[in-house]
Amino acid sequence: MSSLALRTLYKRPATSLRPLQALVAQRGVSGTRLNNKPSLSHQTDSSMSSVLPPPSPPKMSFQDIFAASQGEHQGVWKNLWDKGTYHYWDRGQASPSLVDFLRDHPDLFQPSETPLTALVPGCGRGHDVNLFADLGMQAYGLELAASATDIAREFSETIAPPPAPGSRSYITGDFFSNEWLNRLDTKQFDLVYDYTFMVALDPAKGLRELWAERVAGLIKPGGTLICLEFPLYKAYDLPGPPWAIRSETYVGLLESVGFERVHHEKPRRYLPAGKDTDMISAWRRT
Ligand SMILES: C[S@@+](CC[C@H](N)C(=O)[O-])C[C@H]1O[C@@H](n2cnc3c(N)ncnc32)[C@H](O)[C@@H]1O
Repeated sequence: MSSLALRTLYKRPATSLRPLQALVAQRGVSGTRLNNKPSLSHQTDSSMSSVLPPPSPPKMSFQDIFAASQGEHQGVWKNLWDKGTYHYWDRGQASPSLVDFLRDHPDLFQPSETPLTALVPGCGRGHDVNLFADLGMQAYGLELAASATDIAREFSETIAPPPAPGSRSYITGDFFSNEWLNRLDTKQFDLVYDYTFMVALDPAKGLRELWAERVAGLIKPGGTLICLEFPLYKAYDLPGPPWAIRSETYVGLLESVGFERVHHEKPRRYLPAGKDTDMISAWRRT
């Protein structure tokens, strides 16, 4: 046998030691003899922990966390927010694709005597809400967990207030329920923006169709839906969130509930997550 083969044969993977270490740590090693070494019973707990560190739990991916929840996704989102674990999706800024799109299409928003109203479902820390408010709109961000809206509100207090008549509000509620809507004076909005919200809803549960119907009900006739389409590059057999989508899916969902696509463009600038693949679309509610 070559020396390389021998080295491979006898190289014991570090993980094969884990069950033994775990057992020892669990039992407190009183009176245990390992490899003919003297009993360790006289050692203190702190010296033991440096000799036999407990095995670290296996790291779960974002998608694994959702898969393990047996379909209880709302509980997962709330739990992530309660723990302040939003780094998975938070980009720290409004998407430059949206900023450019709004700048390029002032025609989408006719001057009005009252400030325009905008809603961002699943707004996260509220970067897009804050952008719409800075453009003079009454902007509302909706989030599932009270901890999420607390975090969004606290974040907004660290940035400059929006210029009049802009305002920003963060509301706790389930997008599909009327409970939060009943608490607002506004029942329909001039603008709804979707980025990484619809694709965070499990398509296997029919939630995309429900999202489309709900969005249609939340936008005034003549109002606008803007979708930053993501992740268009992702294979359909990969787990979510986010779940894979294509531009044709948006067309199928939204035309069937009374939207007409008025713009569909490749952005000039992107967030890194969707670089060179995202598309941005605007839909008029007929
Ligand atoms: C992928 S994150 C995106 C957050 C935000 N759009 C961003 O880009 O930072 C999806 C968000 O949707 C929220 N969410 C999921 N289901 C919801 C529901 N039924 N109603 C309201 N918010 C929901 C989650 O709490 C989560 O913050």
